[in-house]
Amino acid sequence: MIYSKPEQDKNFLVNSTNYQQLHQQAFADPNAFWLEMAKRLEWIKFPTTSGNWQFQKPISIKWFEDGLLNVATNCVDRHAKATPEKTAILWVNDQGAKTVALSYSELLKEVNAMAHVLQCLGVQKGDRVIIYMPMILETAYAMLACARIGAIHSVVFGGFSPESLAGRIEDCGAKIVITANEGVRGGKTIPLKANVDTALLQTLQVKKVLVINGTTTSVPMVVDRDVVYEPDYSKTVDPVAMNAEDPLFILYTSGSTGKPKGVLHTSGGYLTYASLTQQWIFDCKEDDVYWCTADVGWITGHSYVIYGPLANGATTVMFEGVPNYPKPDRLWKIIDDLKVSIFYTAPTAIRSLMQAGDEWLQTTTRDSLRILGSVGEPINQEAWEWYYQKVGKTRCPIVDTWWQTETGGILITPLPGINNLKPSSATTPFFGIQPVLLNEQGQEVHEKAAEGRLALKASWPGQMRTVYGDHARFEETYFSQFPGYYFSGDGAKRDEDGDYWITGRVDDVLNVSGHRLGTAEIETAATHDHSIIETAVVGFPHAIKGEGIMVFAIPAGNTVHKEEELRSIIRGSIRSQIGPIANPDEIHIVKGLPKTRSGKIMRRILRCIARSEFEKIGDVSTLADPLIVEHIIEVVCAKA
Ligand code: WT7
Repeated sequence: MIYSKPEQDKNFLVNSTNYQQLHQQAFADPNAFWLEMAKRLEWIKFPTTSGNWQFQKPISIKWFEDGLLNVATNCVDRHAKATPEKTAILWVNDQGAKTVALSYSELLKEVNAMAHVLQCLGVQKGDRVIIYMPMILETAYAMLACARIGAIHSVVFGGFSPESLAGRIEDCGAKIVITANEGVRGGKTIPLKANVDTALLQTLQVKKVLVINGTTTSVPMVVDRDVVYEPDYSKTVDPVAMNAEDPLFILYTSGSTGKPKGVLHTSGGYLTYASLTQQWIFDCKEDDVYWCTADVGWITGHSYVIYGPLANGATTVMFEGVPNYPKPDRLWKIIDDLKVSIFYTAPTAIRSLMQAGDEWLQTTTRDSLRILGSVGEPINQEAWEWYYQKVGKTRCPIVDTWWQTETGGILITPLPGINNLKPSSATTPFFGIQPVLLNEQGQEVHEKAAEGRLALKASWPGQMRTVYGDHARFEETYFSQFPGYYFSGDGAKRDEDGDYWITGRVDDVLNVSGHRLGTAEIETAATHDHSIIETAVVGFPHAIKGEGIMVFAIPAGNTVHKEEELRSIIRGSIRSQIGPIANPDEIHIVKGLPKTRSGKIMRRILRCIARSEFEKIGDVSTLADPLIVEHIIEVVCAKA
C-alpha cells in the first residue's frame, strides 16, 4: 500500500517548488549547503569553514570550526527578544491536574537563574554536569543553564539504577549532579535523590548535589554536599561564547561490547542539524503546538523536545507522565486539550495503545493534528495503519524517522509535503545525507533494490564527534569494520523506488521499547550474583515492546537455590546493575550454552530457539556439546 503525498503541497515548508533545488544544492556542494543552513542560528562569529572531516583513520569530524555561538542564546534569548510572550514549553503533569505554559521570556529568566546557581557552585566552562531528573521544567532549565555557561551536561534517564548512574559519573568525571527529590511517573514515585545517595557511596568525585524539590516529599540532605535549589532572579549570567566544536553534551548509549559509551555532541553543528530537521521534517511553523513524547534522558528528548524546537522558537510540549496513565486515552486527551498539531512518538507506545482498544479514542477528536511521527524502532505495518487511520483519521502524513544517538538528528525520513508514504518504510535520506548498503565484504551494493548493512558515506553536522575520553573506541566501533564509512549497526533493504526499509540491528544490540541495550551488558549484570556462572542474552519478537529480552542462565553447581529463586536473583541483579528498563521477559535455567570448541557462545542458535525457528538452527555438529541444543529447546518449550 502506498499513500500518495498531498496534492496541495505548497503550504509545506519543503514543497515541490523548492525541493529539487535544495536537493541539488545539498548534493552538488554539501559544504556550501550546510554553511548556508548554519545561518538559521545566531552566531557571535559566523564560521568561514563548513565540514572538515575524514572517515579514514585517524577519524576526525569538524563542522563550522571557526564559528562562535552560544546554544542557550539560540534556544532562549533570541526568542525572548523577538517573541517574549510566545509559549516556549507547555508542561503537562503526571496526574493531569496541571498544565504550565511557560513563555520565552519566563524561560530566559529561569535558565538565567539556574545558570547563576551553577556558577555559584563553581561550575565552569568544560565541566561535566550529570542531570538525573524526571520530566519537569527544571530539567529543561538545567540543560540550557549548562549550555549558557559552557558546561557539558550528561542526562541520565531516571530508569537507570544507582550503579549505572555511578558508572556514568565516573566515566565523565562529573563533580556535580543535578537531581530531584523524587520523580512521579504513571502514578508511581521514583526515588531519584535516594538513588544519587546510593551512587555516591561508590564514587568520591562528586562535590555538590543540587536538589530540585519537584514535590512536597522531603529527602535527607548531606551537609556540605547537598544544596536545595533556590532560584535567584536578581543576577544576570552572560552566555559564554563557545566554539562551534566545543562539547554541548555527552549521552551514554549501549553497544555490542563493554560499558555504555559516552556519545559526544558539540555545539554549532549539532544545533544547526537538530533545528533544521525539526523544522522541515515536522513542517513546524509559527502557530504549531509540537509534541515529542520522548523522555529527555534519551537523544530524542535532547534533539526533538528541547534543542531543535527551542532553537526554532517553537512551542514544545513536555509531558511528565506515561501513555496509559491514568487511562489509555491520556495522550489523545492532551492532544485535544493543548490543540497539538504535530505529534511524535514511538512504535511501542502506539502498539500498546492500539492493544488497549479503539474505544479509548472515542472521547477525543484529535482534529488539531496535522503531522504524525514515529521513532526508535521499526514500526510494523499494522501499527502504522492504526496510527494513520485511527489516530490521524487519514488526514496526517506519518514521518517514520530513522536515526540514532550517534547521528544527533534524523537521517532517513519522508518529508510530509514531498514523499509518498509506505507503511513501515523510512523512505529517503534527508538533504545531504548519503546512506549506502554494504555487503559482507564491505562493498557498496549499487543496485537500487538491494539489502545490506546500512552505513553513511559522508558526514553531516549533527554527527557525534568521539566517544568521550576514548577516541580509539570511537574509531573501532563505527569505522573499523567497514573502513571509510560510518557503520550504523543496522541492516536495511532498499526497494525499486530507492526507498529504505530498516530491518533492525545486525549486532548484539537489543532494541526494547525503543531503548537500546547491549546483550553483553545484560549478561554481565545477570551474573553479578555468585549463584549464576554464565548467561547468554538474546532478543525475540515481542508484540508490544518490539523486542523482548530472553536470558539463558547456567547456575553454579553447588547452588542451593531453586529455579524460581535463581530467576528472581537474576532479575534483582539486572535491576540493580542496569535498572528496571532491562528487566528480562523470560529467564531459562539451563545446564549449558551452545558454544564452539573455542568457547564462543553461538547466540545465533539461541536466537532461533527464542523465536521458535527450530528449522533454522542448522548444523550443530561443530559445537563443543551438540546435545546441549536439544536440552535448551526442551527447557524453553516446557515453560511455554
Ligand atoms: C537505533 C538507535 C533515534 C532516536 C531513538 C533511538 C533503531 C531508530 C528507527 C526507525 C527502524 C529505528 C535503529 C537504530 N531505530 N529509529 N525509524 N525505524 N529502526 O536512538 O537508542 O540510539 O537507537 O534505533 O536500530 O540503530 P538509539
